[in-house]
Amino acid sequence: MRRFLVAGNWKMNTDRVTGTALASALAAAAPETDDAVEVLVCPPFPYLSDIGAATTGSGVQLGAQDVYFEASGAFTGEVSVSMLRDVGCSHVILGHSERRHVMGESDELINRKVRAGIEGGLHVILCVGELLSEREAGQTESVLDRQLTGGLDGVSEEEAMDLVIAYEPVWAIGTGVTASPDQAESAHAHIRKWVTDRYNSVFADRVRILYGGSVKPDNAQTLMQQPNVDGALVGGASLKANDFVPIIGAAKTLASV
Ligand code: PGA
Repeated sequence: MRRFLVAGNWKMNTDRVTGTALASALAAAAPETDDAVEVLVCPPFPYLSDIGAATTGSGVQLGAQDVYFEASGAFTGEVSVSMLRDVGCSHVILGHSERRHVMGESDELINRKVRAGIEGGLHVILCVGELLSEREAGQTESVLDRQLTGGLDGVSEEEAMDLVIAYEPVWAIGTGVTASPDQAESAHAHIRKWVTDRYNSVFADRVRILYGGSVKPDNAQTLMQQPNVDGALVGGASLKANDFVPIIGAAKTLASV
C-alpha cells in the first residue's frame, strides 16, 4: 500500500513568529515519523531554517516551494538545491500552477529544475493541472500528458524513484471550489496510466499522486479515499493547525482501515 503524504504549501504567507508557532503546533501533533502518513511543510525560503529548527526530531519534514537548476553562481534572487539541502529540506515543490501561470515557467524550465532536484537528492513533488478553459474544452488529459512528458523528460525510472506527482486543477486552487472525488479520481487514474505507459506498472503502482485544490478538513477524507489519491497538497488550510491537523487525521483514519 502506498504511504499517504499530506503536504502543506504555505506559499507567500506567515512570518517568522507565526510560521514557527504553526510549525511547533504541527510538530506537537505529529511528534514522530508515522509509517502510514508522511507530513511535510513547505514554508517560504527565509523561514526554512527556523521552521526546520521547530520541527527537528518530529514527524514533520521540510520542503521548499521552488528551486533553481544551477548549482551556484551569478543568478540573482535564486536558490540552489544544495542550499535547500543545507537548511534541512528533503522535498521541493516544482511546477506549481502559480509558478507556471504567474511567473510564466515553461515545462522545459520545470524539467531542468526537476532534474537538478533529483540529482541533488531532493524528493520532487511535480505539480500538474489544467485551467478551467482547458477542462471545458475537453483538454484535461492532454494538458496533463504534456506537463508530465515535459516535466519528466530525460528522467529515468531509477531517478524518479522518490518522485511524487500532485494533480492540482488550476480552477480549484484557492477558489474554494474543489474537484469532485470522481473528477479527482479520473485525473489521478489517467496520471497513473501515463506513468505505466512511460515507465512500467510496478513503478506506477508505487508512485504517489497527491490531490491539491481547496482541500479542507471536511473534504479531505472523501478525496483521499479515492483509490488513486495518495494524499493532499494543501494551501490555505495548511496555514492553520486547526485545519491542517484534521487533514493529517483523515489520512491516518484511511490508512488504518
Ligand atoms: P489551496 O492551494 O489549498 O489553497 O487551494 C493548494 C495549492 O496551491 O497547492
